[in-house]
Amino acid sequence: MQETVALDFLGELQRTHMCGQLRASDAGSRVLIMGWVHRRRDLGKVIFIHLRDREGVTQIVFSAGTDQAVHDKAEALRSEYVVAIEGTVTLRTPDTINSAIPTGEVEIVAEKVWILNESRTPPFPMEDSVDVNEDSRLKYRYVDLRRPRMQRNIILRSKIAFAVRQYMDTQGFLEIETPFMTRSTPEGARDYLVPSRVQPGSFYALPQSPQIFKQLLMISGFDKYFQIVRCFRDEDLRADRQPEFTQIDIEMSFPQQETIYAVVEPLVHRICAAAGFEIDAKLPRLTYKQAMESYGSDKPDMRLPPFYAVEDLFPEAALSPAGLPLVAIVIPKTGALSRKERDDLKAYGAERGLRVYDDPKRLERDFAEPMTKVRERTGAAEDDLLLLAGWGGEPKGHLPEQAVFYACGQLRLFAGQKYNDRHKLLDPAILKFLWVVDFPMFEWDEEDKRWNAAHHPFTSVHDDDLDKLVSDPARCRAKSYDVVLNGVELGSGSIRIHRRDIQAKVFNALGFSDEEAKHRFGFFLEALEYGAPPHGGLALGLDRLVMLLAGETSIRDVIPFPKTAKGTDLMCDAPNTVPEKNLRELGIVLRK
Ligand code: AMO
Repeated sequence: MQETVALDFLGELQRTHMCGQLRASDAGSRVLIMGWVHRRRDLGKVIFIHLRDREGVTQIVFSAGTDQAVHDKAEALRSEYVVAIEGTVTLRTPDTINSAIPTGEVEIVAEKVWILNESRTPPFPMEDSVDVNEDSRLKYRYVDLRRPRMQRNIILRSKIAFAVRQYMDTQGFLEIETPFMTRSTPEGARDYLVPSRVQPGSFYALPQSPQIFKQLLMISGFDKYFQIVRCFRDEDLRADRQPEFTQIDIEMSFPQQETIYAVVEPLVHRICAAAGFEIDAKLPRLTYKQAMESYGSDKPDMRLPPFYAVEDLFPEAALSPAGLPLVAIVIPKTGALSRKERDDLKAYGAERGLRVYDDPKRLERDFAEPMTKVRERTGAAEDDLLLLAGWGGEPKGHLPEQAVFYACGQLRLFAGQKYNDRHKLLDPAILKFLWVVDFPMFEWDEEDKRWNAAHHPFTSVHDDDLDKLVSDPARCRAKSYDVVLNGVELGSGSIRIHRRDIQAKVFNALGFSDEEAKHRFGFFLEALEYGAPPHGGLALGLDRLVMLLAGETSIRDVIPFPKTAKGTDLMCDAPNTVPEKNLRELGIVLRK
């Protein structure tokens, strides 16, 4: 434990400026600022303090002429002590100007100092440049959040949320709250359950999204709804998934898909502007089929070029099994790869069932004319990496053709990410948004041998595919759309089913008997019988959006108090056991 110092009271003190505010034009002013001791340099007679608050840092000088009692206090200061300082803003001499900080032309010559609180030695340095173990950051999150990078991220998050509210208001959307203690809302994850004390054995579910409630609000005639809302999903966690996360949730009555795009595109534009990015007013569109066939992904990273099917240019079955695609992948300007790098690419492809042809020179020798055409089709230049990939193994899961595209999509990203440093194509400051539209309505679940809703069960089927709901679910397209940014699914939405008969049919197609559908969603089916208007909407993941706009790679870095990958809050040690008495009240007995 450090020795303690005598603390001062705040009393009537009021600060005049924030720590990032003072400029050369303030020279001569008497100011009072408050904040945390960011850094302290003790040169004996002269002591320099960098005082920090959320707006920035100001240098304070306790010079030889400073009153001795004040100087003694300055000597007692340590990192993260909370202080108030009164003094005069003074221009620095030209050789001591610090151009790295906005206040770098001035310093405050201290005349008074109040120590408002001391601090234990912080668990890690405040500088962004120091790499700190994430567990330690999460355990002392309140300290971690003081670091400039985290301050920037959380402030950006607030600015984005504000821009959303401002824009949605101008468009006539109402922000309406929906319950957290409710019934299960299926979005493909497990529910977090809350036991009821009053009705032992009964549970609320925390909403995976406000999906059903926002649809009910359309039935209630609110016409345009939005909410910046917490959602809860018990699923495997990753860098872009948290058990509780935030959506910008939107729903409208009587929309065409185009109406929704026309609301969301300017919204995304405003959000980017709030983060300092200028993007095109219109987002490009790809159908799900085009996305799979050109990028091997339903969330393509458009910062890399598409790939091309080229099997038609080669003699049949020369490089890939007959009837399956042969794909040409180009990663620009990688230059020559080493033998080891090319082997890595081949091994990566092989693990995903691909046979990778990594040596264009050799292919050019054996297939001169087809390879000239491959270069024409792909535009591959001499110093680009050009890979051909065909199916080399047993197809698993997807339809065989899709399996080739999917694996090639992964290989394309692997190659792009691995050799990114050479050409900076995957620079996070390049924002490539797009819509992916016309998703399939259903996905086959191999484990349970049944169809699942590709989006969620309230999604409308394409008008042309309505008759295939039962006879050919694999070919049913949905009226659904995703917003994708740099290979990340940012948001999803759809035009909803607003007729009870069709909703019941879709539940049937998903394998729910009438009884089950009634048990789980009876209240909702009933609501559809009371004049439900055509409606549709979308939800954007706020955390993912802020992550990408902040240039971060984990949503944990844009959430003030996130959970670890195991769903734990390391700071307050949640989840935790509860006293036996609480369990008894809830009628819960734990199995050993
Ligand atoms: P969906 O389930 O696709 O759609 O979710 C919409 C967006 O929410 C974000 N998201 C998450 N972010 C962080 N952690 C998670 N665990 C997580 N899960 C989802 C993603 C995703 O694109 N009700 C529908 C929307 C609609 O149809 O209007 C829904 O929730 O960015």
